[in-house]
Amino acid sequence: MADTSSSSAHAPVQAVSGIMPPAIPVRGVRIAGTGSQLPSKVISNDLLASVVQTNDEWIQQRTGIRERRMCDRSKGESNRWLCTESLRKALAAANMKASELDLIICGTISQDMRCPSTACLVAADLGAGTAAAWDLGAACCGFVYPLNVAHDLIRVGTHKAIGIIGCDTITAILDYHNRGVCILFGDGAGAAVLVADSDPSRGCLAQVNKADGTGWTDLFQPAEEWQIPEGVDRTTTKLGCLQMNGKAVFKFAVGTFQELIAETLTKAGISAEQVDVFVCHQSNARILDAARERFGIPPEKLHVNIDRVGNTSAGSVPLVLDELMLAGKIKPGMIVMFVAFGAGLTWTSSLWRV
Ligand code: UT7
Repeated sequence: MADTSSSSAHAPVQAVSGIMPPAIPVRGVRIAGTGSQLPSKVISNDLLASVVQTNDEWIQQRTGIRERRMCDRSKGESNRWLCTESLRKALAAANMKASELDLIICGTISQDMRCPSTACLVAADLGAGTAAAWDLGAACCGFVYPLNVAHDLIRVGTHKAIGIIGCDTITAILDYHNRGVCILFGDGAGAAVLVADSDPSRGCLAQVNKADGTGWTDLFQPAEEWQIPEGVDRTTTKLGCLQMNGKAVFKFAVGTFQELIAETLTKAGISAEQVDVFVCHQSNARILDAARERFGIPPEKLHVNIDRVGNTSAGSVPLVLDELMLAGKIKPGMIVMFVAFGAGLTWTSSLWRV
């Protein structure tokens, strides 16, 4: 018979005193402030029509976009600048200093430099001291994934205040001969500061975080020729530029967007009518319209800004959020659903009592 008198793998966990994780306090999480930044250069549909075979009517009908923004490098506008300015504004709205943050997460796939992370550069620009900082690559989910991560880190008590940024400068990686892609994207960024709150009913009520890497070939940026998957036309694929199978992504987006909303509502046990505001990724106005129709969401509950900024990838959701906050349309106690989907393929949602 085995000797069980001394401590062994069968000892009850409670007996291992002193090395148990600390009890998790129940604490609320609050969005203390938001900010956003757009570059100065306006790219109208007519301007695009002067460089590629397209026209204003086609773009507006198929996407809802009238114009988008592009960084003006001669003015020092860059991914880093957009990130820094949006978080600077979010901190000001929260009445906080960067040195009060203990983490900065930057969601982006279009960094000016791969190393160091943009989050580290932002921390340096804003004087965030030794706050942890990292980038998170999730394309159009580049704000809602970090929103969920940051929320949970504060909820469990390991962090007190986190700055999250969603930013992309996709115009820098577009092939302006490829009319199926270049008309869609613009540059932009938004940020939020999340803090612990004494009211435990505030924060995320339900979240969904998913990805399906088998769909990567529908939206990708090849750096070298060997990365181009079979079936994709090599003669028209420009290395370094974003490649998109528009039809496939459209189909994925319409279905996934609606399933995401349904799954999140089911998880939280509430109906679509109980949601006060939907803060959605702006990928194409037709995709937003389809979701609004299915769930009977009135236009005033689902803000659309794609007409003015285009699809800004990770910048999309926080730009909408900041516009709504500035307009006073998101008030404490409201139920707000964040929804995003994009390259990866990735999709995510976050339902909050703000
Ligand atoms: O952020 C997440 C990732 N992205 C998305 O969610 C985007 C999802 N996809 C889309 O939004 C749409 O697929 C696009 C807006 C990109 C394209 O719209 P579409 O209705 O799917 O157009 P299509 O690709 O089916 O093309 C229809 C026609 C084609 O001509 P033919 O073959 O019918 O003669 C295209 O060559 O429209 C032509 N076309 C254009 N014509 C004028 C494609 N792009 C353009 C253009 N201007 N820019």
